[in-house]
Order: sequence, then C-alpha cells, then structure tokens
Amino acid sequence: MRITGDKGLHLFVRKDVQTDILKKTGLSKSLSAFSLTTMGVGAIVGAGIFITPGIIAAKFAGPSAWLSFVLAAVVCSFAALCYSEFSSTIPLAGSAYTYVYSVFGEFIAWILGWALVSEYLFSVSAVAASWSAYFQNLLAGFNIYLPEGLRAAIGTTGQPHAFFDLPAFIIIMIISGLLIEGVRESAKVNSIMVIIKILVILLFIGVGAFFVKPANFTPMMPFGFNGVVSGAAVAFYAYIGFDAVSTAAEEVKNPQKNVPIGIIGSLLIATILYIALSVVLVGIVKYSKLSVADPVAYSLHFIHQNWVAGIISLGAVIGMTTVLIVFLYGGTRLVFAISRDGLLPPVLSKLSLRSHSPKANTWIFGILGSVFACIIPIDKITELVNIGTLFAFAMVSIGIVFLRRDPKFKNLDTAFKVPFYPYLPILSFILCVGLMLQLKPFTWIAFTIWLIIGLIIYASYGFHHSKIRNALNSQTTGLK
Ligand code: ALA
Repeated sequence: MRITGDKGLHLFVRKDVQTDILKKTGLSKSLSAFSLTTMGVGAIVGAGIFITPGIIAAKFAGPSAWLSFVLAAVVCSFAALCYSEFSSTIPLAGSAYTYVYSVFGEFIAWILGWALVSEYLFSVSAVAASWSAYFQNLLAGFNIYLPEGLRAAIGTTGQPHAFFDLPAFIIIMIISGLLIEGVRESAKVNSIMVIIKILVILLFIGVGAFFVKPANFTPMMPFGFNGVVSGAAVAFYAYIGFDAVSTAAEEVKNPQKNVPIGIIGSLLIATILYIALSVVLVGIVKYSKLSVADPVAYSLHFIHQNWVAGIISLGAVIGMTTVLIVFLYGGTRLVFAISRDGLLPPVLSKLSLRSHSPKANTWIFGILGSVFACIIPIDKITELVNIGTLFAFAMVSIGIVFLRRDPKFKNLDTAFKVPFYPYLPILSFILCVGLMLQLKPFTWIAFTIWLIIGLIIYASYGFHHSKIRNALNSQTTGLK
C-alpha cells in the first residue's frame, strides 16, 4: 500500500484511495440506483415531516412554512452536491469519514467519523422515540395501553412516571435483526415501506386539497422573513438522511453513477413532498392552531376525515421505520469502515459468513441506540443529531476544494462534479457553519463532551492500532 503523511507522529497520514477502490472488500454489491433512491427517501422522510411542519407554521413561518422547507432544501442540496462528487470519486463505505481520511488525513477523519457516529446513533434514538409515540397512539385507537413506566424515556414531557421506552427498544432490536439477515432483504423491505409512505403522504395531499381555504393563507409571513429563516433551521432535521446513501457506496453496482442519482433524486422527491404537504396543511387549518405533536393527523380530524387520519398515523409509523432502517444501516457501515482501518476494535468489522453483514457491530450499535432512546429526552437528542450532521456537511463541503486541488485525485474516475466550483462548496460550508451557530449552548457542550470522549478513544486505541499509520511506520523503519 502506498501511503502519504506527515513526518513524526503521522497523525495526518492519508489513505491511498486508488488502491482501496480496486481492492475487493467482502461486502456484496447488490444495490441499484432505484434501491439507493428509495433508501434515501426512506432515510429522509420520517419523523420530521410528520412532526415539524405544524411547529414551523405555528411558531416561525405561518402559512409560509413551505418556504422554510425550500430554504432548508437549498442548504441541504449544496451539501448533497458535494457529497455526490466525493462519493462518485471515492465510492467506499464510510461516507464522509472515508473522504476526509483521503483528503485531510487520519486525525481529522477520526474526529469527523466520531461526529458522524453521533449523527447516526442519535438519529436512531430520536426517530425510535417518535416511532414509539405514534405507535402508542395507534394502540390507543384499539384501547391498548402500556404500563406508564414503559411508555417513554425518563424526563419526557407529559410522562411523569416513565423510565423506559419499551416500544423504542423493541423496534430497534427488530430492525437490527433484520439488517443482520442481509442487505438485499432489508433493501427490498425498505423499498416496499417507502412506497407505502409516499402513497400515504399523497393521500393526505389529495384528500386535504379539497378542504383548503384560501383565507388561511393570510397573513403570508406573520413573523416576517426572519421567522421563515428560523423555521428553516427546524426544517433541516426533516432533510437529514440523504447522506446515508453514500455510506452504502461499496455495496452499489456502478457507484460513480448511481450514488449521485440516489442522493440528489431522494432529496428532490422529499422536497416536493414537503412543499406540497405544508401548503395543504396550512390551507386546511389556521397556522396558529398547528402547534401539536401530530399536525397531519390533527388537521384530518379537524375536517372530520377520521379514517384518513388513522391511515396517516399508520403511514407515519411505517415511514419512521424506514428512517430507522437506513440510519441503523448507515451507522453500522460507518463503524465498519472505521474499524477496518484499525481505529476501532476489529470485532466491529467482522462479517457474518452467511449474510456478509457485520453482525456484532449491528447488535452493539442497536443496543447503544436503544439505550440513548431510553435515557435522553427526545428534544435534546434531536439537537445533537443536527450539530453532528452540520459538522459533517461543513467538512465535506470544504473538502471538495482540497479534493480538486490535490494532484493525487486528478486521475480518479469522476462521474459527477459540483457546479459553480469553488463558490458552491464554499457557500455550502458557510451556510452549514451559520446553522451550527444557531444551535443552543447545551448542544455545543454535549457535542464537545462527545468529541472529548472520541479523542480519548483515539489516544488510547486508534492511535496505536491504525493500520495505515502502522504501515507507514514500518515503511519508514524499513528504509532506515
Ligand atoms: N430526516 C429524518 C426524519 O425526518 C431524520 O425522520
């Protein structure tokens, strides 16, 4: 292996991606552009669309909630274009972590990889908690109630006796088991559920459109344009997930072409659905009444379409299930890639002989995700998801500038290039950092603690076991 790096500690040693791309990795190549797009829609459209449009309309943007979704989509699409160029240049498992390893070197890659682990892990926890709430609503329709202690995490608003979120725990365990059975099966299950989710959203738009009252659209921006911008920061959560597509790059047929199609296609579909859903929602119910946990179902009860509301709640549960599948999948592949490089213990990159999936890694990731879902209140986890994601988006955006300037990457096959270079990646970086600065001090403190834990793990394990650093050290020793 040919390796480049700094002198001395070799903290910034970089991956020679050309060698890695040609290397057979053991993961099976079973995913097509269609599977990837459904995987992207599966990851993006979930808890966010069934919860945030009501809050955005009532508290920030009024009837212009759709505009908040458009603004958030613009920020995400810039980052998505950068992700696409990286994933078409370096189609390896590990997504942004692997890109940064090749461009900025090991130490920065570890920090970013660790931040990404927080995005995936906390997303699993946050969405599982929302899944649990919607699932219990459905059960309540049949007069079935769980014991109070098992309904939510400790400290959840409105659940004073709760200490353990049993449904969240169970759904994460079921999905972990499903993923261990192999990618092909879960991708199929995922595609069916994504189609159901889209149909349910279209059902809402189709039925709701007949009940829209033009009077509900005024005043257009009750909280001014600033309100629309603050709404975009909330809407951002609803778009997180397209980046998970790139974590699957090694399991994709023709990744240079199909990964960009998957990323951009899924973002586009989500944006269209969000705009249409928000316009219909604020058209049915006056924006000021929409600050509820289940705005979509609420608006249907408001127009006495109770049967549609039931179907929508079921669709929400299915929709969140696909988000969980993709985040659990993406998270385990990220940890797989980090462990394969020696920065985490080898058990995390060990593949099951039967299904070719990382078994121990999936169970460990699933158990940690459910533990966080059971102990951290949902609003706090959601903020942690946002900061980790924005950090990764910012690094990937600025990374494009370094990627293009680096002669090492000149000869690699690249099917997709970011337009308006270098302005678009730089603007994307600035927008992501700007959104990070909007986040609360609590989130910054928690994220800093997470990063410190990461540094301790690197100093005590990764630094000593890194395959690339060790290979460079033996090359250097051999030369002496
Ligand atoms: N975008 C994901 C969702 O809304 C996190 O569920």
